[in-house]
Amino acid sequence: MDARTFPIDQQSAERLAADGLRLGLVDTSDREALANWDEADYRGFHDRRPEQETIDQHQRLAAYRRTTGVWDASIPEPGIPVATVASWVDELTVPGGAVDAWAISSVTVAPTHRRRGVARALLESELRTAVAGGVPVASLTVSEATIYGRFGFGPATQVGDLTIDTKRAGWSGPVASGRIGFVSLQTLAETARDVADRARRATPGDFALDEHLWGSLVGTVGDRDKQSASLRAVRYDDERGEPQGFAVYKLVENKSDFSKHTVDVRYLRAATDDAYAAMWRFLVELDLVAKVRYDVASADEAVLWMLRDIRAASVTLHDHHWLRVLDVKAALEARTYGPPASLVIRVTDDLSFARGTFRLDVSDGGSAIVTATDASPDLTMNVAALSALYLGGAKATTLARAGRVVEHRPGSLSRFDASFRADTTPHLSFWY
Ligand SMILES: CC(C)(COP(=O)(O)OP(=O)(O)OC[C@H]1O[C@@H](n2cnc3c(N)ncnc32)[C@H](O)[C@@H]1OP(=O)(O)O)[C@@H](O)C(=O)NCCC(=O)NCCS
Repeated sequence: MDARTFPIDQQSAERLAADGLRLGLVDTSDREALANWDEADYRGFHDRRPEQETIDQHQRLAAYRRTTGVWDASIPEPGIPVATVASWVDELTVPGGAVDAWAISSVTVAPTHRRRGVARALLESELRTAVAGGVPVASLTVSEATIYGRFGFGPATQVGDLTIDTKRAGWSGPVASGRIGFVSLQTLAETARDVADRARRATPGDFALDEHLWGSLVGTVGDRDKQSASLRAVRYDDERGEPQGFAVYKLVENKSDFSKHTVDVRYLRAATDDAYAAMWRFLVELDLVAKVRYDVASADEAVLWMLRDIRAASVTLHDHHWLRVLDVKAALEARTYGPPASLVIRVTDDLSFARGTFRLDVSDGGSAIVTATDASPDLTMNVAALSALYLGGAKATTLARAGRVVEHRPGSLSRFDASFRADTTPHLSFWY
């Protein structure tokens, strides 16, 4: 599905026009227009100006994204948008399957135009456009956790900032039978994409990677001084020589003690348990390194259980992949569930996309049928809570204690949690 083909949302266009602003799409084949949009996007995140090469890469690899801007004809440089957003339809892994998600990125409003409703107009237009395109879920990763709840988004996955004191840890995990080898970033990009793809299909909360995302994660796309020179890549091949895992990492020097450098893991994927153990053993046993840091770890990393001293590791968790259910029936029917159950859930939604009362009937095989009903609900929650619970990464029991879910019939919270629990902890291992 090409997100660029949907028309501009008239409601937001009119609201912005009343404020002297124009909402429009960038023709991404127009290099100057794209460069102006990139300038606004980078400036919005206080980043330095994008290099020519970065704009080239954007045009070559990410031009297919719906690239939206807001322009103000009265400013000194009116070609540069005062607000940006990019979106595309991605494949989100859910327990037992996958669902189309309207991925939203590059949300910026120029400091000169902040807090007058521009972001709200953009976000609402993205959601209405996704609904018009029949996409059941919207998604984003966020700079600040305070912004998106008001639009119905909830944090559906967490990431951990994992640090391992490698001088103390010791390895007590499995010893893999394959081999680890250094590869260039280019070779990794060419040989390991299938590994990442298999890993993401097995991980709820994870996303398919387009060429741009894949290249930026393995270091072949991006500003020159941010990438390749300091990155190293290792790949794990199983006994048959098949690539099954890889890690891209950077060494951060400890100038006062050369035996205590830090390794920053930028991107790590494993398609098999063997590969996972091999990659982590390699990192934990690196000489001249005292600390391994991985700031997009899962909330449930098995490596903790592979260390002789589990207290050599520490993890600080925070919200990461925010989801917004737009179509309750399509979203809930896309995933599988635990034991057979029947639950009536009332969903409230200020923007009304997901509002209603729904019966979820889980069959023996774990699949569900969702129907609108006027039966009295077992549980009531707003759409942000439902979105946070969607992948099984949070528990309704916990959200009820926080006042975000209301139980009308005793036992409903436990039944909800038993149904929604996922075997694999939801995880997204990058930002977009
Ligand atoms: C965040 C940002 C996009 C907001 O743009 P904006 O046009 O000022 O936002 P709006 O005026 O439309 O505000 C919409 C609502 O969000 C709230 N809001 C906006 N920015 C917020 C923030 N940083 N923290 C908390 N609430 C925020 C507003 O108070 C408003 O609330 P209300 O409608 O419920 O009254 C803008 O400040 C920005 O570009 N920041 C830097 C880049 C960034 O962090 N982007 C987000 C990437 S995920």
